[in-house]
Amino acid sequence: MDSEEVFRVIIIDDDAETRENIRKLLQFESDLEVVGAAKSGNEGIQVANESKPDVILMDINMPDMDGIEATELIRKDLPYVQIVILSVQNDPNYMRKAMLAGARDFLAKPPSVDELISAIRRAGQLAREERIKTQTVAKAQTSLQTSGTTTPALADGKVILVYSPKGGAGCTTVATNLAMLLQSEDSPVVLVDGNLQYGDVSVFLNEQSKNSIVDLTTRVELLDAEMIHGVLIHHSSSGVKILASPPKPEYSEGVTGEQFTKVIQYLQQLFTYVIIDTETSLNDITLAAMDACHVLILLVTQEIPAIKNARLFLDLADALGINRNRILMVMNRFDKKTGISPEKVSESFKHEVSGVLPLDDRVVTPSINRGVPFILGDKSRPISRSFYELTDSLRQILNGDGSKLIDNELVKIARK
Ligand SMILES: Nc1ncnc2c1ncn2[C@@H]1O[C@H](COP(=O)(O)OP(=O)(O)OP(=O)(O)O)[C@@H](O)[C@H]1O
Ligand SMILES: [Mg+2]
Repeated sequence: MDSEEVFRVIIIDDDAETRENIRKLLQFESDLEVVGAAKSGNEGIQVANESKPDVILMDINMPDMDGIEATELIRKDLPYVQIVILSVQNDPNYMRKAMLAGARDFLAKPPSVDELISAIRRAGQLAREERIKTQTVAKAQTSLQTSGTTTPALADGKVILVYSPKGGAGCTTVATNLAMLLQSEDSPVVLVDGNLQYGDVSVFLNEQSKNSIVDLTTRVELLDAEMIHGVLIHHSSSGVKILASPPKPEYSEGVTGEQFTKVIQYLQQLFTYVIIDTETSLNDITLAAMDACHVLILLVTQEIPAIKNARLFLDLADALGINRNRILMVMNRFDKKTGISPEKVSESFKHEVSGVLPLDDRVVTPSINRGVPFILGDKSRPISRSFYELTDSLRQILNGDGSKLIDNELVKIARK
């Protein structure tokens, strides 16, 4: 068999019998080769660095360094290596810790032969794909260095957040249509799906890709323009670039606010506008997005729970010293038959509702289901016209003094 098709495996376990049993089991598989073994975390790191395996089978409880710490350290040096944890501990807490450390899979001891072999093959395949990606990146970096090209230093892109403290208010609808309107050759737009678990930006735009933000957050130290463009999806009918959320909710596990911030900062060097669609929960990603943004579009609808949450959010914003003039409040799904008017909300919140997007069931839902933003269609409809107005207000704020939503360093410190 071609050596390219053999997955190289090492076993790290303090129990000699376990190591031997696994080695025996794997010797019958012609595509799996055990290239090393170690009896502790420290020794495991050394063996991994020497033998550069594709897959590591890792015990948790070991002398000198446990498997979780070893996993973390190995993945730092060899990010493509895939680690399968084998442990008698089937406590979900351990599982979570292992996953956060970068482990790919988790098997209870003793695993069945089939289970073990298929887990190694799955991990091996992934290691191969990751290794190719890393090599491509390294090649691109070398060629950029030798050609003297540096990262294009465009003006600092403006970050626009679309947020609602109530789910289903229309954030993704607004973010996708806004991206279409702001995009031009002179002002390129990237649309980031900040809803890492159940993001649907690419569905709204009828695009599909295996690449997602996780391909960047796991390599934040290596980011460059070439790598970023390799991960972004190109929306051909508009030219907008999309940074999609992961294809499965569990892949977002372990993405930190810090990593997200670094990705956004890099995107700001490449794009005039970075639009982030966020989820309602004030999690680390949403907070990192708020830290980065120049304008927050706060969506509210005419329902009491949505109004209540908008008020809670504005109260929180005040308590944190957030710049209120960087919050653009927009009422979505406006129906004049409903008594809660934009004027009443403005008055009660002491914050102007600066945009009103009408309820339009005939246009919005079919456009989402077709994956074609309605703004690309008939532009004379009231909802499209109100989007143009919203975009004008947004440009006005952005052309102002360039301040951000959170300028106050104290707020950032308090948050940490
Ligand atoms: N102006 C509008 N008129 C009619 N329907 C609308 C309008 N805006 C949004 N909708 C509908 O509301 C629903 C939710 O919209 P959307 O998915 O954009 O909200 P969201 O805030 O992103 O939700 P989630 O919290 O799930 O991320 C969609 O079914 C969409 O069709
Ligand atoms: Mg959404």
